[in-house]
Parts: sequence; structure tokens; C-alpha cells
Amino acid sequence: MSKNLQDYRQSYEKSELLESSIPDNPFTLFEQWFNETEAEGGSGEVNAMTIATVGLDGFPKSRVVLLKSYSKDGFIFYTNFNSEKGKSIASNPRVCLSFFWPSTERQVIVKGMVEKVDEETATEYYHSRPRGSQLGAWASPQSSEIASREVLEENLAEVEQKYEGKEVPKPQHWGGYIVKPLNIEFWQGRKNRLHDRITFNLEDAKWNSKRLAP
Ligand SMILES: Cc1cc2nc3c(=O)[nH]c(=O)nc-3n(C[C@H](O)[C@H](O)[C@H](O)COP(=O)(O)O)c2cc1C
Repeated sequence: MSKNLQDYRQSYEKSELLESSIPDNPFTLFEQWFNETEAEGGSGEVNAMTIATVGLDGFPKSRVVLLKSYSKDGFIFYTNFNSEKGKSIASNPRVCLSFFWPSTERQVIVKGMVEKVDEETATEYYHSRPRGSQLGAWASPQSSEIASREVLEENLAEVEQKYEGKEVPKPQHWGGYIVKPLNIEFWQGRKNRLHDRITFNLEDAKWNSKRLAP
């Protein structure tokens, strides 16, 4: 298998990120970029982000999850606490989120500490999901080896029967994590690979920004 990708290249010319226009708070900029990207369309699931964790084997691993809410407190996503990422987070709460929004030629990278969200918030969100997704959380032992696809179908049939006509309770092993940022970097693609990069660091409860070379 071989394919030469040397001629795959794009010039980024849609926008700029200048000190004169950046807010004091990175959440304000995140919200602005998120809304602009959503309005632009063409970036698929604008709330899809990768989360990188440091595994028990010492390797970093990243995978895509969906951002379900954000505020000045942090970025929230939901998952199975017994998954590989859940185990990694339990041993090392330092994580990294990243968003790539091709339609606006932007990337945002967030480094921070992750904590579980409270049960009440997670339960409320769990019950807002379609019933099939609620049952799926019971049916899938996320990240564990399973013998076949049929195992999932059987698990699902079992929980469907168990909770027929009843509310599906949130599993204890399923819930939310909030990533509380310490550093947020904004990357805006520019011409000739001279991209704009502004990074915000939380220092003594204050956000300080600086420009980085691309
Ligand atoms: C677009 C997309 C959205 C996803 N959203 C989630 C999510 O919100 N929560 C989740 O646990 N997994 C989500 N996944 C699956 C994860 O990428 C991953 O396969 C799963 O969480 C198991 O990861 P782990 O074994 O590293 O813990 C999503 C995958 C894709 C491609």
C-alpha cells in the first residue's frame, strides 16, 4: 500500500486572529469561534472534539467525543467511567481537548484537569437522551473485549426487557467529565503557513495571553 500525498495542500486565507481583536477571556473567544463555525456550516459536528489522555501504559491516546456543554467552568462530555479513557483519567486527570474546524480554518487546543460532573447533572442529561442511547449505555461494556457483535445485541435485548415500560436508570458507571482548562490555544490558518496562534494561560486566577510562532 502506498500513496503520495505531497501535493495535498491548502492555503488558509479566510480570517485572522490579531491581538487588537482578542477578548480578555478565552471562553469568550471560544464561544465566538464555535458560533461562527456553526453558522458557516461545513465542519460536520462542530461539537466533536478529540480528548487525549495518558494511559496506564504511559502512552497518550486520543479519541473523538462530543462536547455537550461549555461554560466558564469548563467543557463537559459524557462517557463510560470503566472505559479505557475512564481508567486513564482515574490515574492521571491531565487531559487535552482539541477541535479542528476546517470550514473556518481553525483549531482550538485545551489543556486542563478533568473531574467528574455531579450525579444530578449527569442524570438529568442521561434522561434527555433518546431511550435507545440510554439502553445502549447499559448494553455496552465500553472498551472491554467482547466475543462478537451478537453480545451487544443480546445485552440490548436483555435490558430492553428488564426496563420495558419503566424509566431506564442511569448506570453508576456512566456519567460526565468536566475539563477545567489551564491553557487554551487558538490557531487561525493564514497565508504562506504564517498562521496566527494565540495561547491563554491561567496564572493566579487570571488569563494571560501571548502569541506563538506558527
Ligand atoms: C463523532 C464521534 C462522537 C463520539 N462521541 C462519544 C462520546 O460522546 N462519548 C464516548 O464515550 N464516546 C464517543 N465516541 C467514541 C469514542 O471515540 C471512543 O471510541 C470510545 O469512547 C471508547 O474510547 P476509549 O476506549 O479510548 O475509552 C465518539 C466517536 C465519534 C467518532
